[in-house]
Amino acid sequence: MPSTMTALFGGAGPEWAPRRIPVPRPGPGQVVVRAHAVALNNADAVMLAAADPSSGGSGEEYRAGFEFAGEVTAVGDGVAVPAVGDRVMGTTPGSFAEYVRADHRHTLPVPGPLAYGTACALPTGLLTEHGALTAAGFRAGQSVLITGATSGIGLIGVQAARVLGASRIVATTRDPAKRDLLTEYGADTVVVTGEQDLTRAVSAATGGEGVDVALDHVGGATFAACLPATRAGGAVVNVGRLDGPASTLDLDALAYRRLRVRGVSFGFSRAAELGGVLAAAGRELLPAVADGRIRPVVDTTLTFDTAAEAAGRLRSHRAQGKIVLTVP
Ligand SMILES: NC(=O)c1ccc[n+]([C@@H]2O[C@H](COP(=O)([O-])OP(=O)(O)OC[C@H]3O[C@@H](n4cnc5c(N)ncnc54)[C@H](OP(=O)(O)O)[C@@H]3O)[C@@H](O)[C@H]2O)c1
Repeated sequence: MPSTMTALFGGAGPEWAPRRIPVPRPGPGQVVVRAHAVALNNADAVMLAAADPSSGGSGEEYRAGFEFAGEVTAVGDGVAVPAVGDRVMGTTPGSFAEYVRADHRHTLPVPGPLAYGTACALPTGLLTEHGALTAAGFRAGQSVLITGATSGIGLIGVQAARVLGASRIVATTRDPAKRDLLTEYGADTVVVTGEQDLTRAVSAATGGEGVDVALDHVGGATFAACLPATRAGGAVVNVGRLDGPASTLDLDALAYRRLRVRGVSFGFSRAAELGGVLAAAGRELLPAVADGRIRPVVDTTLTFDTAAEAAGRLRSHRAQGKIVLTVP
């Protein structure tokens, strides 16, 4: 194993910068993975902007990235699974590096022959969408609304809800050109926000009842529209705030419908808690990944050398699914 490696850092300007740093060693309970591919998340664009000193950001340097897939090269004390040589995918801060150190509980096995360039796009989506459905108390036979459904994790959410037995899936996008994508990945009804009133469209798609469960990735006015789009006794879970964190709610809709409202943020979960959520997602969804019922949508594959192009694509919000970087 080499003694140094390349990793991408934010905090020096508008783009990530590569730097040579020592290859990490695993501590107790940790693994080191030779990453072959890493995937971008919306949070990567948010963090890059927040740290960019040229546009008022903090200028604080940080190791970029959250998701990775590769081969385990070393394990720390107390780690039985995964073992050296295993193919894994996982989530940990600082994943944009040749070697990634992670809590062993924050990895999942890569099923069968799935390519690393595909596998790396799965962990955040599986973890977050399964965790959000669980937080909602979702059961097979229930209907689900997924807002911001063409986001990298939203597309996993649509497929996960289908695999777990959703009776009807309503998915939203702002872009009419993405209708077919959502239908192809399992949405029964696509609502184009901006063209259609979300609450009315969901009501029409569910016989006037509303959905049992709403997973909201958009926040803002869309989160508010989810409340009257959810049936009495149903659950609304906020997952993302793509359109901003402030929302003006109709408390009548909340009270008269006796809704349960939850928020989830797995990046802020404690290590053991995150491990439990990822393990549950793995148990219930990895078989569907293995047989192709859940496929991450990869928009573009670039490299560490073209990471600025990847960040630009992420910021454009024009990507359909995930942006992946192959690791040198
Ligand atoms: N709770 C958690 O633990 C957790 C974990 C991971 C991610 N998240 C959050 O989940 C959200 C999705 O993450 P991601 O990485 O999958 O995102 P992403 O792939 O970057 O999402 C991009 C898509 O979101 C939609 N979008 C962007 N801006 C929007 C806006 N202002 N209003 C409505 N839709 C908008 C666009 O789809 P259309 O063009 O089709 O409308 C766009 O193509 C983010 O807010 C992220 O922070 C939360």
